[in-house]
Amino acid sequence: MSKAWFITGTSTGFGHELAEQLLARGDRVAATLRRTEALDALAARYPDQLWIRRLDVTDTAAIRAVVDAAFAELGRIDVVVSNAGYGLLGAAEELTDEQIEHQLQTNVVGSIQLTRAVLPHLRAQGGGKILQLSTMGGQMAYAGMSLYHASKWAIEGFLDSVGQEVATFGIQTCLVEPGGARTDFAGRSLAMAPASEAYAATPAARVRELAASRTASAIPGDVRKMARAMIDAADAEETPRRLLLGSDAYKLVHTALAERLAFVEAHHDLAVSTDADDYVPAAT
Ligand SMILES: NC(=O)c1ccc[n+]([C@@H]2O[C@H](COP(=O)([O-])OP(=O)(O)OC[C@H]3O[C@@H](n4cnc5c(N)ncnc54)[C@H](OP(=O)(O)O)[C@@H]3O)[C@@H](O)[C@H]2O)c1
Repeated sequence: MSKAWFITGTSTGFGHELAEQLLARGDRVAATLRRTEALDALAARYPDQLWIRRLDVTDTAAIRAVVDAAFAELGRIDVVVSNAGYGLLGAAEELTDEQIEHQLQTNVVGSIQLTRAVLPHLRAQGGGKILQLSTMGGQMAYAGMSLYHASKWAIEGFLDSVGQEVATFGIQTCLVEPGGARTDFAGRSLAMAPASEAYAATPAARVRELAASRTASAIPGDVRKMARAMIDAADAEETPRRLLLGSDAYKLVHTALAERLAFVEAHHDLAVSTDADDYVPAAT
């Protein structure tokens, strides 16, 4: 049976690819974006399946209004994809206050407020799914991308918690964690801080150089295959809580988690040594 979807950031990349694949299989899509003309071609091909609204996810009041209108006009929405977002490159010291605020407002607050706006509707209709675009960088970190990582680690913690709050209402959540993918992300969607002399010989500057010199063939992620995997995950009866996509994502997240687990194990004795002498663990 065909489904209805709500997706943010559908002008390019994952958002656009998801919309295109979903429309091609007969689903209905409530597509939101800042530049609505980017959907002109899809609107001409699928006039009865595509609902389009302008939405900048930094505008919380607009998120609520557009979400309410989408549920009112489409009736039921089965899957919500919080996709809009961008990267920010530069050492923490090099970033401007405005860059930091805008990154967090878009990737964190925008995603949180979208989830909060859709939850009453999903509860009222008896369930649904929320897919949140995170990244492999939501579980590991490169130098030179601290604010992007901060934004995605924040949204991972948020959704991990919310997923437990809403499971009882039949709502499933999924953190999508792609590695590098051939979208506009590494190009026009990567904001940069002005480079400083002080960081010229540091790992942050090397990541900057790498980002500037990286060619498409050095980026593993196939956008079509990744979007297909997201759709399959949403279609599954039990949608996974996390969806790791890309060989780079698998390798880097595996390494980071193995290191963290080894660290936790190495600290067992110290950790338990700081418990109060009369501590009694609560029954679980
Ligand atoms: N590509 C990768 O390597 C990669 C890897 C892991 C995770 N991701 C995540 O995937 C998501 C989508 O990125 P992408 O790779 O598909 O890159 P993309 O092609 O650059 O698409 C980014 C989308 O987000 C939109 N957007 C940015 N700020 C917005 C705002 N304030 N309000 C509404 N829309 C906004 C952009 O709209 P405009 O056209 O108006 O700018 C665009 O539609 C992001 O959350 C990103 O963090 C990407």
